[in-house]
Amino acid sequence: MSEWQKSDWRKKPRVQMPDYTDAALLAEVEGQLSKYPPLVFAGEARRLKSQLGEASRGEAFLLQGGDCAESFEQFSADAIRDTFKVMLQMAMVLTYGAKVPVIKVGRMAGQFAKPRSAPTETVNGVELPSYRGDIINELAFTPEARIPDPRKMLQAYTQAAATLNLLRAFSTGGFADMSRVHSWTLGYTDSEKTERYHEIASRIQDTIDFMAAAGITADTTHEFSTVEFYTSHESLLLEYEEALTRLDSTSGNWLAGSGHMIWIGDRTRQPDGAHVEFARGVLNPIGLKCGPSMTSEDLKLLMAKLNPQNEAGRLTLIARFGAGSVGDHLPRLIKTVQEEGANVLWTCDAMHGNTIKSSTGYKTRPFESVLREVREFFEVHSAEGTIPGGVHFEMTGQDVTECTGGIHAVSDEDLSDRYHTACDPRLNASQSLELAFLVAEELTRRRNDSPNRAVG
Ligand code: PEP
Ligand code: CO
Repeated sequence: MSEWQKSDWRKKPRVQMPDYTDAALLAEVEGQLSKYPPLVFAGEARRLKSQLGEASRGEAFLLQGGDCAESFEQFSADAIRDTFKVMLQMAMVLTYGAKVPVIKVGRMAGQFAKPRSAPTETVNGVELPSYRGDIINELAFTPEARIPDPRKMLQAYTQAAATLNLLRAFSTGGFADMSRVHSWTLGYTDSEKTERYHEIASRIQDTIDFMAAAGITADTTHEFSTVEFYTSHESLLLEYEEALTRLDSTSGNWLAGSGHMIWIGDRTRQPDGAHVEFARGVLNPIGLKCGPSMTSEDLKLLMAKLNPQNEAGRLTLIARFGAGSVGDHLPRLIKTVQEEGANVLWTCDAMHGNTIKSSTGYKTRPFESVLREVREFFEVHSAEGTIPGGVHFEMTGQDVTECTGGIHAVSDEDLSDRYHTACDPRLNASQSLELAFLVAEELTRRRNDSPNRAVG
């Protein structure tokens, strides 16, 4: 096979990508982007890959979350801070349940391009091209706004760089100090349903207090005051991805410099398509969405293409079947992985299989369905004797009303109050934390049930 080139995807069939009308402008933007610095470095991507390898063996757990689509308009330091903060709180709760390190990966600093279920959208009899994310066109429902504009790639790059800069500052500048995350139970009511959260939360608080009394605090212990936080996004807009792809001089391999981890969506995972062709050539950890239509045959081909060396941590299979359907699909794909002897990390995206239209017309996701899919994911892995290595959510630190349910029960009627997403409905801060507690419970149960549980 001839050596992979970062532009090879151009010879393959592509789907879900815009047809830019101004070829000269596109070329100019690509030229400019390819001179800009990469956002991440190869050593970081390799380190994440090795940590994901640990997660595939049950020695770590992956928490991946953030916006469905990052937005130019809602870009702010507060929004980044709040999502980062909720992810840290969720990670703390999950660490308690899993008793292993939690790897934190944001859907941030590059999550701009969106695959759509239909190429056009019709409102009141007017048909326009679909919105495809701020890196491509605009949400406003006018013919001009929906024209793909390559210059938006430069704005996305700038926003991604500024986001990552702030995340790096938060990660090491004292913000992540563990003792600051004790306020997570605020807002919980005293109902019977929430008692178990209080119990876990106070145990975590006890542990922090105990360690502080023993002199282990953020001032004395580096691990307490800094965190590792990685970025990820769907590698959809391949002109942008190619322009940020760089040769790693240490290893001679190619790095997708747009983020630490990239994933291939459920609609763009054709084994002979452009998106798989691009992802197979870069050294980053790769995620692969697996929806109900994923066949065993395709999965085999994809594993062989995307991870020919069978490297642990290289490939994360992100199951997104929908509540009630996990049992119909996950067992057969687990069997395929086992037959191939493939090293993969299994995680659960409990969002994308659970989108419905509410009675008030909003696109929403019932919290109960999200929760149920996570439970089914754990149950299947438990029955198969395989490892549920992580979870993947669309969430925000803002107090939005986009998904129904949760402790502060959001109803269909409430959705219009604070519905801000540019694309899919996200869990708000309180729903995210509630979910983390429930996943922690699943993890605790799994540890207690495990026949190989270490004693002592
Ligand atoms: C996404 O994660 O934003 C997404 C579009 O997911 P999927 O490809 O699984 O539908
Ligand atoms: Co989404």
